[in-house]
Amino acid sequence: PDPGWTTDADIVVIGSGIAGLVTALRARTAGRVLLVTKALLDDGSTRWAQGGIAAALHPDDSPEEHLQDTLTAGVGLCDPEAVRVLVTEGPDAVRRLMDLGAEFDRNDDGGIALTREGGHLKRRIAHAGGDATGAEVSRALLAAAKDQGIEVIEHALVLDLLTENGRAAGVTLHVMGEGRRDGVGSVRARAVILATGGLGQVFQATTNPEVSTGDGVALALRAGAAVADLEFVQFHPTPLWLGPDTKGRQPLISEAVRGEGAFLIDERGDRFMAGRHPLADLAPRDVVAKAIMSMMRETGASCAYLDGRNLGPRIWETRFPTILAACQAHGIDPVHEPIPVLPTAHFSSGGVRTDLWGRTSVPGLYACGEVACTGVHGANRLASNSLLEGLVFGQRIAEVLPGDLAAEAPAGTPGDLPEARLLDPSVRAEVQRIMTIDAGVLRNGPGLERAAEELAVLADRTTGRPCTEAWEATNLHTVASLIVAAARRREETRGSHWREDFPDADETWRGHLVSTLADDGTL
Ligand code: SIN
Repeated sequence: PDPGWTTDADIVVIGSGIAGLVTALRARTAGRVLLVTKALLDDGSTRWAQGGIAAALHPDDSPEEHLQDTLTAGVGLCDPEAVRVLVTEGPDAVRRLMDLGAEFDRNDDGGIALTREGGHLKRRIAHAGGDATGAEVSRALLAAAKDQGIEVIEHALVLDLLTENGRAAGVTLHVMGEGRRDGVGSVRARAVILATGGLGQVFQATTNPEVSTGDGVALALRAGAAVADLEFVQFHPTPLWLGPDTKGRQPLISEAVRGEGAFLIDERGDRFMAGRHPLADLAPRDVVAKAIMSMMRETGASCAYLDGRNLGPRIWETRFPTILAACQAHGIDPVHEPIPVLPTAHFSSGGVRTDLWGRTSVPGLYACGEVACTGVHGANRLASNSLLEGLVFGQRIAEVLPGDLAAEAPAGTPGDLPEARLLDPSVRAEVQRIMTIDAGVLRNGPGLERAAEELAVLADRTTGRPCTEAWEATNLHTVASLIVAAARRREETRGSHWREDFPDADETWRGHLVSTLADDGTL
């Protein structure tokens, strides 16, 4: 294929959520940074984050307690060293975010207002605009990036990694509407930072935006990097339920609503979390999601209900204005009636395996944020640790970049684009259907086998038209195949991986499933 345009940078950052922006801002001293993003700068997941950022900011709290809660939520699969980094560097990272201009909600005494979410024994979630934390973080970071003159290319879908002597040497992109850099081209760079976010679009319904199509995981796999823990797709317990056929991005009802006193009930109005876990409605989110699904099975209900009537109109209006508006837009008044909710795909706890400095197994390739598997989430991410992970590890990548950068700029020969293997855009909907039926919140052997077979058939549905939709469909197919392969292998129930045919955690499975691509293209 025509190699198209080329451009140069020292560091190319892919993605404009918290992880990409923090890395780009902090890495400026290491060299010339180019930030590329798939759609518009604030189209990713960060701006939808509601609950907030978890960090031991209160004098009555400590990183040690945050560490314990994170390890408990991760059900034996967190890397304790990575969690220690997260929780000890977290408070300062949040303060540095405030120095960049992010404004968090305050108490009457001027201190940072902190709330609780599932799995946290202490109030340690800082929030902004009530329930619009991600929007404020995104606003502050984008303003800082603009002030500091970071060069950006929007509408740039990353295709593949350029490598040279086994080292990352840049990326190929498909750019739309950018004048001299329109169409397929390449950025030659000495370091590539993947901050591409999640993969929720692999399911029919998700809290993730349209752009979350697993591009970073698929690219890293094609480039030979190790990926891990992909079976642990977290289902948020309480997105708004809009009916059985609703597809696409679902409105989130933050766990913070339960943190402020709302609780789950069934169709008869009975509370069902008490007695299932010592933290009841504030149990870790895998426990709550499972309890909702079990209740629905037992009663034949289509959803659960979140009862926040006790919060009263003032708390709804001041603390949860975004959620209140979303409910009202769908004809629900949470001040006076319970909200229908259903567990929905939310976060990938696994991703591209990294060390404590964001380095992947391919030299020069780094991963940060949801696309990465730093080891902090284990089998189930603790609420509001995700923005924190982007903050802390973005900063860490920037710290090691100067030492890591190759002495010579690579020649950056455009890569061998796998266009012959690109899948038809129609594969996207098929992948979503298969994954929703057989690889969702509740899994079993025969269903996963069926999913694997159906995905294998789809691998032959190639297209001759290398458009961005084909790349996205291909990436979704790759990550779906990874999830299903790992979910089939892991014959136990742990964290957000729930096998009804293996209902208990099994010590022999207390380890990570790491995948790389073999030379023949198999996992
Ligand atoms: C929420 O606000 O419930 C979501 C926070 C998160 O995913 O960590």
